[in-house]
Amino acid sequence: MRDFKLDLANILKENIEDMTIEEILELIEIPPNKDMGDYAFPCFKLAKVFRKAPNMIAQDLSQNIDKKDLIKEIKPLGGYLNFFVNKELLVKEVLNDVFSKKEKYGHNTIGEGKNVVVEFSSPNIAKPFHIGHIRTTVIGNVINNIYKANGFNTIAINHLGDYGTQFGKLIVAIKRWGDLDVIKQNPIPELLKLYIKFHEVAENEPSLEDEARNWFLKLEQNDKEAYELWSYIKDVSLLEFNKVYDLLGIKFDSFAGESFYSDKMPAVIDEMNEKNILKDSQGARIVDLEEFNMPPALIQKKDGSTLYITRDIAAAIYRKQTYDFYKNIYVVGSQQKLHFEQWMKVVELMGHDWAKDCLHVQFGMVALEEGTLSTRKGKVVFLEDVLNKAIEKTKEIINVKNPNLENIEEVSKQVGVGAVLFQELYNNRIKDYVFSWEKTLSFEGETGPYVQYAHARACSVLEKAGDFDASNIDYTCISNEDSINIIKEIQRLPEIVELSMKKCEPHHISRLAVDLAKAFNKFYHDNHINVEDQNLKNARLALVKAFKDTLKNTLNLLGIEAPQKM
Ligand code: ARG
Repeated sequence: MRDFKLDLANILKENIEDMTIEEILELIEIPPNKDMGDYAFPCFKLAKVFRKAPNMIAQDLSQNIDKKDLIKEIKPLGGYLNFFVNKELLVKEVLNDVFSKKEKYGHNTIGEGKNVVVEFSSPNIAKPFHIGHIRTTVIGNVINNIYKANGFNTIAINHLGDYGTQFGKLIVAIKRWGDLDVIKQNPIPELLKLYIKFHEVAENEPSLEDEARNWFLKLEQNDKEAYELWSYIKDVSLLEFNKVYDLLGIKFDSFAGESFYSDKMPAVIDEMNEKNILKDSQGARIVDLEEFNMPPALIQKKDGSTLYITRDIAAAIYRKQTYDFYKNIYVVGSQQKLHFEQWMKVVELMGHDWAKDCLHVQFGMVALEEGTLSTRKGKVVFLEDVLNKAIEKTKEIINVKNPNLENIEEVSKQVGVGAVLFQELYNNRIKDYVFSWEKTLSFEGETGPYVQYAHARACSVLEKAGDFDASNIDYTCISNEDSINIIKEIQRLPEIVELSMKKCEPHHISRLAVDLAKAFNKFYHDNHINVEDQNLKNARLALVKAFKDTLKNTLNLLGIEAPQKM
């Protein structure tokens, strides 16, 4: 599509020698009020160069600018130049772009030939997959989609928490009190029970801790029994996690978790020794980070075992070697900020200049209305339950409102899951929030179902009206305010795809979805589509189709389905 803003900047440049195109682009705004114009250019910065008052500059420029085919009208207002673009051209450009690019409308090729690693979800095995994991899982998936839409080749990695002393504890607990058959029936709750029991008993019997450390060491040394029990724990956990990923429609390219790096650790420690950054501290090996105002990074314990941070360093090095990433992104909660700062600093100290390409994309915490989540105290809300309840509730609503719908099961899943996803993606990711059943299951206002409904409504308009002639659209018919508003929202998608990547912020996309739906609903209420005038009808149907396709692409980026009927 023609880049209207860039074209405008080029036109302005002809009259403003002292600014670069980039500087001009930077200044161009969208006026707060539609009556003021489509674009505005503030002249305040030019006052010095032109040695004139901004309003005088705006006056002069408005008379001298060559409008070309792009600009319909220029109005100076105070220190601003307001531009009205040629609507017919706008409509034509936007519709042609949507219809020619189809499911790729809004996408670009900025990232062509570059690899981006996006790590997200990464739950700890043997622990519940709870509402606290929803953020990394959902936001991470969308960031992965966004990079793809910007032309990057992405590698979605689930860095499973499948290693560490806690597995020594679990092995001890299974051997003492566990029954593999019972565990298999109901893996996560049973393993959680055992884990809790371990801690209770260990309080009076501290030797259990040594036993656990010993079992973990055995695991690190590939002891057969330790390995088999651990594999069992991992397999049953993954079966549970996959249920949630299937419901969410999320796929990973790699499940290389922490254990994957166990045999890669010695080389990392050797490299650190070579680079002379390790220090002894009471028998353990650390990297001193005092100079950078951070606590030391504990790399290797006295007994030779490695830590979470060591595995992260090994993983980053492995990813660079394997994927030669352009960016290596971690979608992980803000509680781990220090951890990421520490290991990224260590990688930098090891002399890897790509440390700067590693990015911690943080997000705020989820709390429960009753207080903080606590796995050990059993204060958790299972993600699978949240999704299933949302699906159930959707089914109840559809059964009342649209009982004859053919595929109620499928649509309930698409809408129920969509509701949960949308709520998760609607706010700035850094904000903390309190999970509430009521809010999650409310489908009123700016929600996923509201947006999906606008899509279904557009589908039904198109189904009822029959086909239209895409090769013969009279663009002048799309000229009233309601129609132009839809065109302008559609036009924003490519820009939003880029912006949401630059900021790693999915909410720009979810907000656009709502804006699109609102613009369409307004148009739908106040304008007839199936009109006598065939020219007008044809153009309006084209507009509805372009809206529908764009909204679908927008929802796809969010990992949300767009059912045709609901
Ligand atoms: N498994 C960790 C947890 O549940 C999250 C892992 C984050 N990713 C990483 N590379 N450290 O807290």
